[in-house]
Amino acid sequence: MEDNLTILALESSCDDTAAAVVRQAKGGPAQILSSVVFDQTKLHATFGGVVPEIAARAHAEKLDVCAKEALIKANVSLFDLDAVAVTAGPGLIGGVLSGVMCARGIAVGADLPLIGVNHLAGHALTPRLTNNVRYPYLMLLVSGGHCQFLIAHSSSDFTRLGGTIDDAPGEAFDKTARLLGLTQPGGPAVQQEAQAGDPTRFAFPRPMLNKPGCDMSFSGLKTALRRARDEIIAQKSGLTRQDRADLCASFQAAVTDVLSEKCRRAIEIYMTEAPSEPLIAVAGGVAANTSIRAGLERTAHENNCAFLAPPLSLCTDNAAMIAYCALEQYRNGDRGKGELVARPRWPLDRHSPAMLGSGRKGAKA
Ligand code: KG4
Ligand code: ZN
Repeated sequence: MEDNLTILALESSCDDTAAAVVRQAKGGPAQILSSVVFDQTKLHATFGGVVPEIAARAHAEKLDVCAKEALIKANVSLFDLDAVAVTAGPGLIGGVLSGVMCARGIAVGADLPLIGVNHLAGHALTPRLTNNVRYPYLMLLVSGGHCQFLIAHSSSDFTRLGGTIDDAPGEAFDKTARLLGLTQPGGPAVQQEAQAGDPTRFAFPRPMLNKPGCDMSFSGLKTALRRARDEIIAQKSGLTRQDRADLCASFQAAVTDVLSEKCRRAIEIYMTEAPSEPLIAVAGGVAANTSIRAGLERTAHENNCAFLAPPLSLCTDNAAMIAYCALEQYRNGDRGKGELVARPRWPLDRHSPAMLGSGRKGAKA
């Protein structure tokens, strides 16, 4: 039985309620039998960010429906499962608790082990789920809530090389969109506008490039953008379409430059481990940005590193990554015997300093 593992996972740490079933024969590739995601974007749209209480209630209402749908789509019953897995943090605590309680109910009812998974580990292991990538590899998590470079050594051993000390890049894109009257989520809208813009018109700062290491800061960038916008409005009493496009393109170029240069430094550190198949992978919604992606890919290739961007549906929040992470934990002996605590903060690398900032989508870890 253990050679062929099947796991049902739940994910509810932010604003997506998700369930998935993943199966893997020992030594073989993992198979996503189903992956269901109910996103809450509409529920939070008018508030300009995720409202924790609304998110928790919506998760509580949807989790069991979502789990049932994942089982039906995968064509498996509870009897076919080896374990139930759940995101136990980091994230908005109400949502994490909803997931943990629902998963515990299923696990106890079906007499299955319950495995707690770190949400960030889920993201970080996605390249193994999709492409069976070998350890150690470098990972950039870049979304509305996360931004960090990690070296993945195993499913439970990560070295954090650096991350944002304030806003995540997705958050900066969303705030920029709001400042320019564009739709949310801001990333795709800013990218769209930037296509017709001049990325050199505004010399926005490239924060923290003058400091050594891989830490980043994005909150000053949106302040610079606001100032540039206000100056144009003061001069011409409004923004033209071209002004807006140029602001977007210049902002996007600044984020791309910062991420590319920090990526180069992260690769330099990673290479000292002499990986047999050097690779950097990205995860998170911002990885969808074509300018950022091209910058990272170019940097990777210039530094003799392969570049991998998993399909976007697996880069953004989903439960297949949680199920996969639990598969690796199970194979390493985790039978869910330890205490499963819901944790708002849960850094992947216990030795790295705590992150600052609270993040639009809850506590950063
Ligand atoms: O990973 P994700 O779906 O959710 C979390 O934040 O956990 O990422 C969403 C973020 C949003 O901030 C969104 O604006 C950003 O990713 N995003 C983008 C693009 N598509 C999504 N940012 C820049 N360019 C894009 N094309
Ligand atoms: Zn996430």
